[in-house]
Amino acid sequence: MELTRIRHALVTGGASGIGLGIVDAFAERGIAVTVADIIQERLDQQFVMRGENIMPIRLDTRDREGWIEAKRTAETRFGPVDVLVNNAGIGPDGCEISEMTPDSFDKTIAINLTAVFNGINAFVGEMKARGSGHIVNTASMNGIMLGLARYGAYAASKFGVVGLSEALREELEPHGVGVSVLCPGPVLSNMPETSRLLGNPAPEQRWPDGTVGMEPIVAGRIVLRSIELNLGHILTHPNYFPAIDHRNDVIRQAAEIEQAEWASLPGWQG
Ligand SMILES: NC(=O)c1ccc[n+]([C@@H]2O[C@H](COP(=O)([O-])OP(=O)(O)OC[C@H]3O[C@@H](n4cnc5c(N)ncnc54)[C@H](O)[C@@H]3O)[C@@H](O)[C@H]2O)c1
Repeated sequence: MELTRIRHALVTGGASGIGLGIVDAFAERGIAVTVADIIQERLDQQFVMRGENIMPIRLDTRDREGWIEAKRTAETRFGPVDVLVNNAGIGPDGCEISEMTPDSFDKTIAINLTAVFNGINAFVGEMKARGSGHIVNTASMNGIMLGLARYGAYAASKFGVVGLSEALREELEPHGVGVSVLCPGPVLSNMPETSRLLGNPAPEQRWPDGTVGMEPIVAGRIVLRSIELNLGHILTHPNYFPAIDHRNDVIRQAAEIEQAEWASLPGWQG
């Protein structure tokens, strides 16, 4: 989608970290932004003096009624939403699956995956009818690389966002609506603090030794350029691609063993 055609973007989780970087990237191109976040104090801190073109609203993205109200408020102020960024999320809870509480698992899936559906659900019908728009859903490298220990619920949620986004992209392509899944590598943010504030038991953010996180505004500019190019997958760190290859290698090795093994099973036809 050409950036000159974007008049209004709505970004969830926009009061901090990557979401804030995306908000700033839209703002520096003169695009009006509705910023939706669950933490009111952060909205107050970040957006008090930001000018007419940014409207902060409190929204818990799990709340489907809240989405209807948020959409109404946003569109009353700035007109139809051209770009929806479902970015709000919490981090891994640091627990092995054997120790994870059902509440923690449910919360991670509710915020990181089901709430992404909620956002899509609120806007997709009108975008389809208009024949224009773009949806960006934030997953993670943890949604496309091999699952890591103590990242179980987080990886499950992020793999879910990748699958949802890929399917949505195929569905919306004939209607002129773009879909991208954002898979960030390390980006500076408040993720452990957010996760703690929202009740995760032992927030954890595991980056390779010596990693310096990317500035959020850079991630934001990457997102805008990717919308312009209509990229399906946005990797902030394309140099991490070998991690995806590694997962494919592991699966390929299994397939090679299976190809030989299953051949000896009665009835198997490959
Ligand atoms: N920072 C990284 O290195 C990194 C890497 C991969 C993926 N991600 C993903 O990027 C997204 C943004 O995370 P971040 O690192 O910028 O963290 P962050 O904690 O700085 O920002 C997340 C924001 O989302 C908001 N939020 C959380 N739950 C919400 C809800 N239910 N409704 C509305 N707002 C809610 C928080 O209040 C916070 O302001 C997340 O989906 C995260 O999983 C981050």
